[in-house]
Amino acid sequence: MSEESPTPKPSEVCSVEAIKQASSPRRRFGDVERLVETTSTNELLVARALDGAPDGSVIVADRQSEGRGRRSRKWVSPPEGALLCSVLFRPALLLEEIHLLSSIVALGALAAARATTGAGVMLKWPNDLVAGNKKVAGVLAELVSTAPPAVVVGIGCNLYWPAGWPPPSAGGAHRLGLKDAATLEDVTGRVVTRDEFLEAFLDELELLYDRLLAPGGPARIAVAQRAACATIGRRVRVETETGALVGIASGIRADGALEVEIDGVTRAFSVADVVHLRGGE
Ligand code: BTN
Repeated sequence: MSEESPTPKPSEVCSVEAIKQASSPRRRFGDVERLVETTSTNELLVARALDGAPDGSVIVADRQSEGRGRRSRKWVSPPEGALLCSVLFRPALLLEEIHLLSSIVALGALAAARATTGAGVMLKWPNDLVAGNKKVAGVLAELVSTAPPAVVVGIGCNLYWPAGWPPPSAGGAHRLGLKDAATLEDVTGRVVTRDEFLEAFLDELELLYDRLLAPGGPARIAVAQRAACATIGRRVRVETETGALVGIASGIRADGALEVEIDGVTRAFSVADVVHLRGGE
């Protein structure tokens, strides 16, 4: 006697391709090292890269004691309430295309945020994830001096603030440099677990990395980055080591630098912080 399976409802019918994709394990980013605590997942993965760790290695930590941010800043994040993750790339890319590795990490996190929480986050140049003027995630790339060079790209994405955090002894969010930070829960009301977010992020990252390495890939990723970047067309304040300038962000160059029109002159910035200005600012 054969058991009859019920006729599937239309919403349960998947294409063969979708079933294959859903059931196939990732070809890349499958080697995930999970730690309770480390100094910095970037620092550790740079050391692993120097020891020969392969392309696609991933380190995730519950907490970091010396998280690194852009421009030599500290990166502070809620213990267990953030995805703290670094990925090692050993890509066949030209040096001027290397910045696109940060872009695929940011675009992967953006897609994961949308898929898991529905968050309408955008990018702020170079690769912050923002909801309005609040920062939800930041990306830091570090070049590893192997031959050929490897690149470690780390992302810290705030998912939710744990109860009682930050502790009053830390002086509050302002003292920790978090006054302009937000979590995906703040933005959407939905709590996503780190594992759920990590899986969605690594799935997206695999698609984006394959796309980047395909013929014509760098140009296609650059188009996707510009499309997701809320900075283009905005009035911005660009903060550099030597001071701050105000202008209209007009584009992103092939090498990743931000172009800004300042008093009728186009200037390009490779390393800077950008503030999106509102009407009267
Ligand atoms: C920024 O300043 O916006 C970049 C922050 C990047 C933080 C992440 S957290 C995981 C990884 N490990 C680090 O030490 N930094 C990055």
